[in-house]
Amino acid sequence: MSNNSYGIIGSGNAIPKKKFMNDDFVKLGLETNDEWIASRTGIRQRFIAEEETSASLAIEAASKAIDNAGIDKDDVDLIIVATTTPDYQLFPSTACLVQGALDIKETAAFDISAACTGFIYALDTAVKMMKSGLYKNALVIGTDTLSKYCDWKDRSTVVLFGDGAGAVVLGKVEDGYGLLSSYLGAKGQDYDKLIIPKGGSKEKLTKETVNDPLASIQMDGRAIYKFAINIIVKMMDEALATAGLKKEDVTFLIPHQANKRMIDYAQDKLGLSDNQVYVNIDKYGNTSGASIPIAITEVMSKNLLKKGDIVITVGFGAGLTYGANVIKWI
Ligand code: ACO
Repeated sequence: MSNNSYGIIGSGNAIPKKKFMNDDFVKLGLETNDEWIASRTGIRQRFIAEEETSASLAIEAASKAIDNAGIDKDDVDLIIVATTTPDYQLFPSTACLVQGALDIKETAAFDISAACTGFIYALDTAVKMMKSGLYKNALVIGTDTLSKYCDWKDRSTVVLFGDGAGAVVLGKVEDGYGLLSSYLGAKGQDYDKLIIPKGGSKEKLTKETVNDPLASIQMDGRAIYKFAINIIVKMMDEALATAGLKKEDVTFLIPHQANKRMIDYAQDKLGLSDNQVYVNIDKYGNTSGASIPIAITEVMSKNLLKKGDIVITVGFGAGLTYGANVIKWI
């Protein structure tokens, strides 16, 4: 059988300029403090998009990923962007904005909406499309600016989120390496546990409702926490089983950065040491669809992985969605 393995051959990040510390919320009048936020979530700061947008961050990250991969931009023939905060509410897609801005000649381009699990879904989708033989190099991007959809008076949500983008380039890799398997899931029965109730086509915003808190993130934090803890082991087991692997085979964990306590839980279940888990939630907060590709880019630039390492990504988010990718590092 001919080689049909695809993996990450380059990556890049884009982070907004404005750094926002935990104490800056206190300065805005919120009844919170650095100790509460850091001890409950692990977050110390985040970056907030001002002049940047989801698309501008995606374009910057994508351009760096293409340079890092050492390919010509016109070798990209598939662009998938995971985002829930596109520049334009309906269309055009962020993937088309990336294609246009980078002036890539001929490529399929579309967005995926799976909230914080979006990048995990997008990576799997891209590799499956590449395995069809029709695509050679894919750009897979996670970008989000959820700070724009937070109620800045709601201390229980606004402190959690940060903005940013991460991108990877996928290409053919040595046989048996690259993305080995994924597990993708959803529990739409709990769609209302993390939701922006107003502002979609069901309830379009009017002059009267434009500042309604229900047009920003509403979250049952406890329910999400419990859901994530319950599903983490199952999704890791399922993804590993599809690849013919066990927990003991995993050498590195790249988790979605939503809460340090949840990351610790996954680390514990895999029996990994601190230097086998990538954590940057302290610096960026929860950047939603961008969190895993931002982490991947940092892991690559710090050379933390070696050939043959078994890496697992794990994430969950609004939908509720969840998923994991198993990657044999090139
Ligand atoms: N500062 C100070 N106090 C606060 C803050 C804050 N920023 N936020 C909430 N509190 C208070 C609450 O009002 C509550 O007070 P009360 O007991 O008087 O009512 C108390 O702290 C405890 O609140 P809980 O919500 O029970 O705190 P908990 O320990 O559960 O931590 C947290 C909350 C951090 C949100 C946690 O539940 C969590 O991380 N959940 C998962 C959320 C998540 O990952 N969401 C993202 C999914 S990804 C996506 O797709 C976007």
